[in-house]
Amino acid sequence: MPVLRSAFIALSRNRSLRRFCENSRIGVKLSSRFVAGMEIEDVLRVAEAVGGQGMAVTLDSLGESVTSEQEAHKAADVYHQLLDLLAARKLNANISVKLTQMGLELSHALAEKIARSLAQHAHATGNFVRIDMEDSRLTQNTLDIVRRLNAHPDSRGAIGVVIQAYLYRSQSDVEQLLVDGIRVRLCKGAYKEPPAVAFPHKADVDANFVRLSGLLLDSPIFHAIATHDESMIAAIKAYATQHKIEPARFEFQMLYGIKRDLQRRLVQEGYKVRVYVPFGSNWYPYFMRRLAERPANVIFLAKNFFRS
Ligand code: FDA
Repeated sequence: MPVLRSAFIALSRNRSLRRFCENSRIGVKLSSRFVAGMEIEDVLRVAEAVGGQGMAVTLDSLGESVTSEQEAHKAADVYHQLLDLLAARKLNANISVKLTQMGLELSHALAEKIARSLAQHAHATGNFVRIDMEDSRLTQNTLDIVRRLNAHPDSRGAIGVVIQAYLYRSQSDVEQLLVDGIRVRLCKGAYKEPPAVAFPHKADVDANFVRLSGLLLDSPIFHAIATHDESMIAAIKAYATQHKIEPARFEFQMLYGIKRDLQRRLVQEGYKVRVYVPFGSNWYPYFMRRLAERPANVIFLAKNFFRS
């Protein structure tokens, strides 16, 4: 399985295959299990439907690693539009943003300026921007930007970040973020990282995930625990019960199209659930990372494809 995971992660960076898949009708159809659609209206429809099932959403306008300042501004414009539409339609939804899509690899100042305008917009409309975490070359810069933006009164509380349990550094990052009062989404981590920076074995990642969840749940800040792993979820529920932490003090987050029964079950049990809903035509790298997490998805998607 680790070989397949590496293969899918390598494929996620293949530009020719990406161009081919994103422009093919079959590719678009296959991706629809994990991607809400190509247009803003598609994702708003999904947000409303998910909301009808008692869950919140976070919306991701797909795309990463832009190659020009113009592209970065164009990507940010979609999020500005979304923030206005979410306020107008009163949807229980916030946004998830990647800093490489805002130009981080071109200029840190550009990405920070764009992220600041999104955080200010979110603050002004009573909303929230989650900065997704990308590969470990970008961790420090991402945390620095989030920390600086959260320190501004015109965006304080309207910006949060993601911590990946597979990184050795994450415990000290969580401790610092708690001191700064920044909201965290904890996940296991989706990129291929070398053993010099990340736990190579799943058991160690899982143990760190549970340890870091405890730190987050003990803090008075509202955090998110993002996983589909039922053993992680059971451990977190048990920790919350044992420490008398009310279910309203945190939320579980899961990806659109994954473990839908579990999402609904948690809502029935009284937990808050937020679904991460991606949309847009740049779906290929996101889709390939979902296959890397569970290579059996290829068989699952193929079966559904031929059935429909
Ligand atoms: P694990 O991979 O151990 O899977 C547990 C079980 O869940 C599997 O056995 C399977 O049943 C099911 N499952 C998991 N992935 C599946 C899939 N793709 N298809 C079908 N079933 C699947 N990562 C990152 O690096 N930066 C980020 O910003 C984010 N953001 C983020 C937001 C949200 C809301 C979620 C849920 C996840 C992320 N991630 C992420 C991805 C995360 O790091 C991780 O790769 C996936 O969540 C898979 O890990 P699990 O915790 O689900 O456990």
